[in-house]
Amino acid sequence: MSDIEYFWRLPTHGDGRQAHDKHTRGEWNRTPAALRKAPGQVHGEPDGFGYIDYLSQVARAAEIAGFTGALVPTGAISYQSWTVAAALARETRRLRFLVAHQAGYTEPHFLAQTAATLQAISGGRIDINWITGGDSAAQRAIGDQLDHARRYARTGELIEVVKGYWQSAPYSHHGELYRIDNGGLKSPLREQPIPRTFLVGSSEPALAVSGAHADVYLVWAEPLEGNRQQFEAARAAARSAGREDQMKFGVRVDIIARETDEEAWGEARRLHETATASTLKQFADLGREPRAPSTESAGAQRQWAMHQGYVGKSFDDLIVGPSLWAGFSLLRGGPSCGLIGSYSSIAERLAEYIDIGATHFVLASNPHLEEAWRVGEEVLPRVPAALQRLQELRSGSSRAPISIPEPASV
Ligand SMILES: Cc1cc2nc3c(=O)[nH]c(=O)nc-3n(C[C@H](O)[C@H](O)[C@H](O)COP(=O)(O)O)c2cc1C
Repeated sequence: MSDIEYFWRLPTHGDGRQAHDKHTRGEWNRTPAALRKAPGQVHGEPDGFGYIDYLSQVARAAEIAGFTGALVPTGAISYQSWTVAAALARETRRLRFLVAHQAGYTEPHFLAQTAATLQAISGGRIDINWITGGDSAAQRAIGDQLDHARRYARTGELIEVVKGYWQSAPYSHHGELYRIDNGGLKSPLREQPIPRTFLVGSSEPALAVSGAHADVYLVWAEPLEGNRQQFEAARAAARSAGREDQMKFGVRVDIIARETDEEAWGEARRLHETATASTLKQFADLGREPRAPSTESAGAQRQWAMHQGYVGKSFDDLIVGPSLWAGFSLLRGGPSCGLIGSYSSIAERLAEYIDIGATHFVLASNPHLEEAWRVGEEVLPRVPAALQRLQELRSGSSRAPISIPEPASV
């Protein structure tokens, strides 16, 4: 149990009290300036604080509430991940930063130097979540012209080159995309620890790159069997690369946790009922013919398969497993599946992911400040006992399938 690591997501493009108004805190807010709330405005007047002050509170809450680290996502409209991590590294003491980095953004030497500097600034608290980009149109909008397969080839080459550049000087590399002659980090940056490599993606190229390089392979939550298969596919890829024993596994999932299952599901129903028509339309095919998902991302297609564009689906149709609802993307975009339930139910679900091999979790819930405390205080401490119960059940029933009761009212 001691090697389980919990990360909390930093909401780098706004937050809100509930999933479907995630932009009410931060400069992404679309309400008129005079009505905006802190940080930034108090009673319509500038208050001298910015969104980074709020993110700093979230990071402090996460580390004090018992999280190992914080995911800093990357996105075209977000605050930039390295910049946020650098600012918050100095406001935290022990929190790790899992910095998401799009491989297409940088040349190897710039990335190695930036990451090594941040290792020095933070006392070695940096990991990298290597992001490849699932959709060519979205990639072209940020100046990336490579197709899906070539993007993954670039991610693999970049990881290799950054490590080589970091560790050995003089370093030369003549590859498909990068050519370096007699480069390499020098002291004192060269002595900084290389960040751990987290990788994501469900497509064949993603699995190949993950097998070759991932210290941790991360997936979006799905019904347990789907995630188990994804772990198995990544493990097979690592085996082919001769590094099966070096790969760990993780799950990234949003949660709604409350005292009771009824309260948690009641909150989800309320969010679903109060989402505005424009929010729902933004993220679903509602009112249109069901169609294939427009993204090239294999992982996003797996998520889409669980709601099929939401056409003709009720709230209950989207319950796809114990405590698992596939309607989260209806409220805020992103992956569909999230966990809903009492503190004990969520702890049981996390224990089940541990049981199939997960050692890393990236959790999130709105508002991220208040919920970091709730999840840290109420959910995480319940996981060890939940895992023990699961293992006792299993050993008592000679590996019979474990039956976990559905919440009384969903
Ligand atoms: C756990 C996880 C975290 C992700 N984080 C980000 C992110 O921060 N920024 C981003 O643009 N895409 C992110 N993605 C999406 C990936 O860019 C991309 O869609 C995915 O790797 C597509 O690969 P695939 O076709 O192999 O599934 C994430 C995906 C997963 C599974």
